[in-house]
Amino acid sequence: MRVVAWVAAARAPPTLQAVPTALVTGASSGLGRAFCERLAAEGTDLVVVARDAGRLEALADQLRASGGIDVEVLPADLVDRDRLQVVADRVADPERPIDLLVDNAGNALRRPFVANDVADEEAMLDLHVRATLVLTHAAVRAMTARGRGGVINVASVAGWLPAGTYSAHKAWVTVFSQAIAAQVARTGVQVMALNPGFVRTEFHERADMDVSGYPDLAWLSAPEVAAQALRALRSGRVVYVPSRRYQAVATVLRHAPHETIHRVRTRLGR
Ligand SMILES: NC(=O)c1ccc[n+]([C@@H]2O[C@H](COP(=O)([O-])OP(=O)(O)OC[C@H]3O[C@@H](n4cnc5c(N)ncnc54)[C@H](OP(=O)(O)O)[C@@H]3O)[C@@H](O)[C@H]2O)c1
Repeated sequence: MRVVAWVAAARAPPTLQAVPTALVTGASSGLGRAFCERLAAEGTDLVVVARDAGRLEALADQLRASGGIDVEVLPADLVDRDRLQVVADRVADPERPIDLLVDNAGNALRRPFVANDVADEEAMLDLHVRATLVLTHAAVRAMTARGRGGVINVASVAGWLPAGTYSAHKAWVTVFSQAIAAQVARTGVQVMALNPGFVRTEFHERADMDVSGYPDLAWLSAPEVAAQALRALRSGRVVYVPSRRYQAVATVLRHAPHETIHRVRTRLGR
């Protein structure tokens, strides 16, 4: 009984419900844009971050018009350390608190590791790993000082399938988020890794990937993923895989022997 009571108590911390202000990276398209639209519909003020200032301005106009909310446009290439620091400073600004960080910006390289320039690999590592680390650090410092806040770090089910450096980065994002979530537990701050399967966005086209043969069943919609992710954060999840079908896939990938996964990966090729 004592163990049951301890587990129940351990699951009890309050979760982030109202979100006055959120900062979303990778807001100019896809999942980031869907997060912005969802949060705006809830009345959340937004800081939107991506490289394409024109697209961010257009999004900001649309959201202001539809939601009566404040939208701040903060263009930044998160691979650029100076620009990343500007975004981190905005996340940490005590005068203008950010209640939710959605750390979502990401991309993929089309070719396998050996064919890529190492500079491109480093840039992708900086975007997925370094930017996630720096922004999460800024967020949890500021949020723990206030005793409230949330971070959603966008990983992927690919993090459980060794499919290149992209998978390695996403595995890092998941484990990192779990580790920091445990460290800040009971401070009023939540950190959650979001691990989607395939989502219809610009992601695959940008990486010049041919996904035309993938069945409809493989695809998730960005608005649904964003809505489910916010619900999952509010229910206290630390790692969340949207949709039953991808939860089943993730369970298999997490529990299958490494050698089996390796053999399947090798057979599938890239
Ligand atoms: N789509 C999927 O199937 C899928 C599955 C699992 C996980 N994910 C993850 O979901 C996240 C969002 O991707 P998405 O599917 O929505 O793709 P997307 O439509 O291509 O959006 C990617 C976003 O990241 C921004 N971005 C890319 N490089 C950046 C940089 N260096 N600095 C700042 N912003 C940058 C892009 O904006 P700019 O070009 O304007 O900078 C864009 O807003 C990524 O982390 C991705 O790994 C996607």
